[in-house]
Amino acid sequence: MAILVTGGLGYIGSHTVVELLNNNFDVVIVDDLSNSERFILKNIEEITGKKPAFYPFDLKRKELLTQVFDAHEITGCINFAASKAVGESQLKPVDYYENNLFSLINILQEFKERQISNFIFSSSCTVYGQADQMPIDENTPLKMPESVYGKTKQMGEEILTDFAKAYHRKISLLRYFNPIGAHPSAKLGELPIGIPNNLVPYVMQTAAGVREKLSVWGDDYPTEDGTAVRDYIYVVDLAKAHVAALQKLINDPSEETLVDIYNLGTGKGSSVLEVVKAFEIANNVEVPYQICKRREGDITIAYAHVDKAEKELSWKAGTPLEEALRTVWEWQKYLESRNT
Ligand code: UFG
Repeated sequence: MAILVTGGLGYIGSHTVVELLNNNFDVVIVDDLSNSERFILKNIEEITGKKPAFYPFDLKRKELLTQVFDAHEITGCINFAASKAVGESQLKPVDYYENNLFSLINILQEFKERQISNFIFSSSCTVYGQADQMPIDENTPLKMPESVYGKTKQMGEEILTDFAKAYHRKISLLRYFNPIGAHPSAKLGELPIGIPNNLVPYVMQTAAGVREKLSVWGDDYPTEDGTAVRDYIYVVDLAKAHVAALQKLINDPSEETLVDIYNLGTGKGSSVLEVVKAFEIANNVEVPYQICKRREGDITIAYAHVDKAEKELSWKAGTPLEEALRTVWEWQKYLESRNT
């Protein structure tokens, strides 16, 4: 009995694979290495002392996916594989729809034919757009996301919900807030491929001197210090939520459809400048920055109402922001040591 983890060498995927292996799940990874590298697999093996099965191919290649299902007794899937750059998704909408939705449908065809249940989907708080009230709970009405990337997440949720209802399967839709940080071993983290879009990788590279200055996108938001507020969740806490969500699906005794939806965050909002300051204090480094105009498509504020996940999954994102940011700096030092 094995869990298929697509995108299992990616940022959140690799941390989740470690947690699954530590909880004695057998893991089968499919990852096309479009946003990762092979040393991540080696590092997963070093951290856990276990060797997951690994298949390097693109999930759009249905015939290869069928072979994986023939070779392993798959009993569930955590689907991370997806393109995720918001800006790029606006420029390449057809590629984003193709990549993010065809791969999902190919897996669901296998699940449908082989009577498999237990599907966990990486969704995003982007499905709420700018919510009218904080904190955001799971009953908050969805808004059409501004980006094509966000639309693929919302469509993915709908496809999965229809799948679960029609075939009486169990699924979990996990809406992540802003994942940050690296593994405490410093052997896993977000790989710096290209210029970072997200705040924390950019802060990391600025502190390291790779980038000259951080651009803070807007200080005229209606927030305490004028910069936008997000809910930054430590990636290892997030990874653990996947294991808890999977165990809940597997242990559900009924034969009925189950559609779980959870917001995964800390419940606390931090502004851009608070993150910059926390990074400086945590790591005793300087992060030069300049205030710039707002970034198009950005919302003002988003933080999660976390009671549902905490109660139903017996889980909590308890790692403080500064501790998470310390792991980021350790990861940067590890990356530098690899390059020398
Ligand atoms: N920010 C900066 N400078 C930067 C990068 C980011 O000031 O160089 C600011 C942003 O304007 C925003 C905050 O830092 O206010 C967080 O930005 P991120 O890009 O790290 O994260 P977002 O909240 O914009 O993105 C998240 C997810 C995406 C998702 C998006 C939807 O990472 O996957 O929410 O809004 F699509």
